Formats: sequence, structure tokens, C-alpha cells
Amino acid sequence: MSGIIVVGSQWGDEGKGKIVDFFAEQADAVVRYQGGNNAGHTIWHGDTKFELSALPSGIITPGQLAILGNGVVINPEALLKEIAEVEAQGISIENLRISNRAHVIMPYHIELDRAAEQATSNRIGTTKKGIGPAYTDKISRVGIRIADLIDPEVFGQLLKEYLPFKNQQLTKLYGKEPLDYDEIYQKYVDMGQQLAPYVTDTAYLLGKMLRADKRVVFEGAQGVMLDVDHGTYPYVTSSNPTAGGVMNGAGVGPKQIQDVVGVIKAYTSRVGAGPFPTELHDEIADHIREIGHEYGVVTKRPRRIGWLDAVALRHAVQVSGLTKLAINSLDVLSGLDEVKIATSYSHKGERVDHFPASDTWFEGLDVNYETLPGWQEDITGVEHFEDLPKNAQNYLTRIAEILDVDLLSFAVGPTPEQTHLLTPVWQ
Ligand code: GDP
Ligand code: IMO
Ligand code: MG
Repeated sequence: MSGIIVVGSQWGDEGKGKIVDFFAEQADAVVRYQGGNNAGHTIWHGDTKFELSALPSGIITPGQLAILGNGVVINPEALLKEIAEVEAQGISIENLRISNRAHVIMPYHIELDRAAEQATSNRIGTTKKGIGPAYTDKISRVGIRIADLIDPEVFGQLLKEYLPFKNQQLTKLYGKEPLDYDEIYQKYVDMGQQLAPYVTDTAYLLGKMLRADKRVVFEGAQGVMLDVDHGTYPYVTSSNPTAGGVMNGAGVGPKQIQDVVGVIKAYTSRVGAGPFPTELHDEIADHIREIGHEYGVVTKRPRRIGWLDAVALRHAVQVSGLTKLAINSLDVLSGLDEVKIATSYSHKGERVDHFPASDTWFEGLDVNYETLPGWQEDITGVEHFEDLPKNAQNYLTRIAEILDVDLLSFAVGPTPEQTHLLTPVWQ
């Protein structure tokens, strides 16, 4: 029971990287269990800013293992580039471990992701990193795994078998240029050899650690509302960021989990297309976007902004079994006269308390808000809950009350020093 899952509880970018890094100090391992370099996690240590996409956020703090589990999809080129970047920032990657069962994002996945986004009118607004096509191939049993990549013979055979089909898709369906076997083979074999020293059976490794009661943090990328099963389908990513994703994506059992921490931003943001009931299109959104620096880490797109949505959050609590809340970016709301929490929706005159599955429900949906008084003070230096302005305290308390989940931490800025625990992470 020494595993803690950290789950994004909205549409991503809740500040998961910062929370995972914050927990990492007391952990023996940090494990990413899904997603790929579509993620963008910002971590500040002093004046140094780290932006991680492919590496687990645990890599920044020395000491514990940083593991890429089998449920992750890996772009070797992006991973090696990121390794070089963090090494240049003084970080050692000797504790990195990569699952031999993780799937490889191939160049044709990226091309197909780009082509599909261009070709369809119903664009999802993906990060164009090849995530969807890589997971599609995994499920279709035509994927290439890290274990295959590091064996030049096996890799060559698989690439020879699969590439002609991918080139047919690229040329015939999308009118793109075909990709060259020799070029991919050489480049990928080289990269595989560079990664090989870090490759191992990570589920086996984690099994041993958890049996020995080592502390393991499971780091979700994206968020519950982007989950392929539980999110706003089809405007989702192609993996399971929800807590359930840990079981398959890291190869551990549910009884090894002590807590599921839902990371929440004090408001809502979303990048890419899809339903967003509490979205704002006014000067409050612009204010929050500027104060909160709400621009995508990966794609630099301005993030869509809205009020906190407790209907979506209740859904997250339910489908991920959240046991604790980590609320970030409270400081961003300072200076507003009032703050709002969506507590239910109305659809064709009927009250809706839980998040709708169907896209058509969002047309003409009304949102019912609870309005609370705001606070004007700069709170970025506040260290204790009791020192927050009363209205900010009430806002946090009310969120925990509506969701019926205990508050573990609140944050008043992006650094670990501005992130404050109300109770210890590990009992
Ligand atoms: P992640 O993908 O969930 O790891 O989050 P991102 O790094 O993509 O986005 C979160 C953004 O909010 C980053 O720019 C963080 O530095 C920033 N951030 C995190 N916590 C806080 C906070 O408490 N206050 C403020 N102002 N910014 C925060
Ligand atoms: P982190 O881990 C926010 C969104 C994309 C798009 C949809 C599908 O930083 O929270 P994909 O490339 O995954 O096929 O795109 O999912 N998306 C994210 N939005 N934060 C993320 O990661 C995201 N990863 C993917 O914008 O709408
Ligand atoms: Mg992010």
C-alpha cells in the first residue's frame, strides 16, 4: 500500500508535473504510466525552469528511480533530445528506466497524425506527436515495442513488414510522400542502442519495490476529461490518464495503491477542440490567461479558460476514485470580485448533475453556478492555510465540500516552496 497515483482531474495542465516533483523527494520511484510527448510538464527549481514532455517528472530530483512504464508511447528522438536538454541543465539520468514493453512512436505515426488532422473537418486539435496512431497500432497488434527496437534484427523485420502498409496509407489516402526504409532503419537502430542501457522489465522492478513497501508515485499525463474511455470522446487523447490506467500502464495491482491524488487548477483550462461547458470568452478569461501564463508547453497554443467545473470534477472523483485533492494556482484568481463554481447543468429544462456522454448534450446546455466572493490580496507568499484571505479559504473549503474529498495541498505559485501540504503525503 505504498503507491500514490497523481491524476490530472480536468483537461490537463493542472500542474501535475509540479506536484509529482514535490512528492518525488520522499519517494523511491516515480512512474509515468500512459501518454507520450504530447504531455508538457513545467517544474521550477529555484530560477531554473524544466519543461518535460517525455521524461517522468521524478527525473529532476536525484535519488529515486524515474520510470517510463509499459503504457507509455515513446518517441526515441524526442526522448533523447529531452535527455540532452536536462543533462545540459545539470540533471543526471542514471536513474531512468524504460519499459521493454512500451510502444515506439514511429515517423509514420507522426505523419499520419498530421495528415488526419489536416484531412478531417472534425479536427481534434491533437498535439501532432503521433500519439493516436501509435496507440492504434498497439491495439491493432502491429506496434513496435522498445524490446523490438533494441534488437536490430527484429526491428528490421517488423519495419519491413509494416512500413509498406503505412506508406500506402500516406500516399493513397492522404497524397503524402512515402517514407524510406533504410533511413528509418539506420536512425532508429542507432537511437535504440543509445536507449538500451536504460531498458528493463519495469513491471517486475516495480513489483519488487512495492512488495518491499517502497514509496512509488504514479504520474499521470493529460487528465480525466481527456481519457479515451471517460473523457469528452472523441475530443480526447488515446490513453487512460485515469487511476485505472496505472494497473495496465505500470503493471501493478489495485491493492498496492494508498491514495489517488486529484490535481486541480483553481479554474479550468483546455487546449484543443471539444466541449467545455464553463468556458469564458471575456476579459476574465484574458486576465486569467495572462496571470496564469496559460499557453501550451508543447504546442504554445493559448489555452481556453473557464470557471471551475464541479460537474466535471465529480466525474473525475468517481471514475478515478480520488481520495485527496491538490489544488493549484489559487494565486491566479486574486483580484477578481467574485469566483464561480459550476455545480450542475440544465439541459432542455432538466437539471443534469453528472457529466453527459453525448456531444449533442452540450448544445444549448446551461450551466448553474455557485458564486462566491473573491479576494484582492497577493497571496503568492502565503505559507499556511490560515493565513490565506478568508474568501480564498472559503473557496478551497467549498471545493472540497462539493466534491466530498479531503484537501491534501494548495498552491499559490508554480514553485515547490509555494506548494503547501495540509497533511503528510505518506501516512
Ligand atoms: P501539467 O501538464 O499538469 O504538469 O501542467 P503544465 O506545466 O502544463 O501547466 C501548469 C502551469 O501552471 C505551468 O506553467 C506551471 O508552472 C503553472 N503552475 C503550477 N502551479 C501553479 C500555481 O500554484 N500558481 C501559478 N501561478 N502557476 C502554477
Ligand atoms: P499534460 O500532461 C493538455 C490534448 C490535445 C488534444 C487532445 C488529443 O501536459 O496535461 P493528442 O496529441 O494526445 O492525440 O491530442 O488532447 N492534450 C493535452 N491537453 N495537456 C496535455 O498534457 C495534453 N495532451 C494532449 O490538445 O485536444
Ligand atoms: Mg501540461
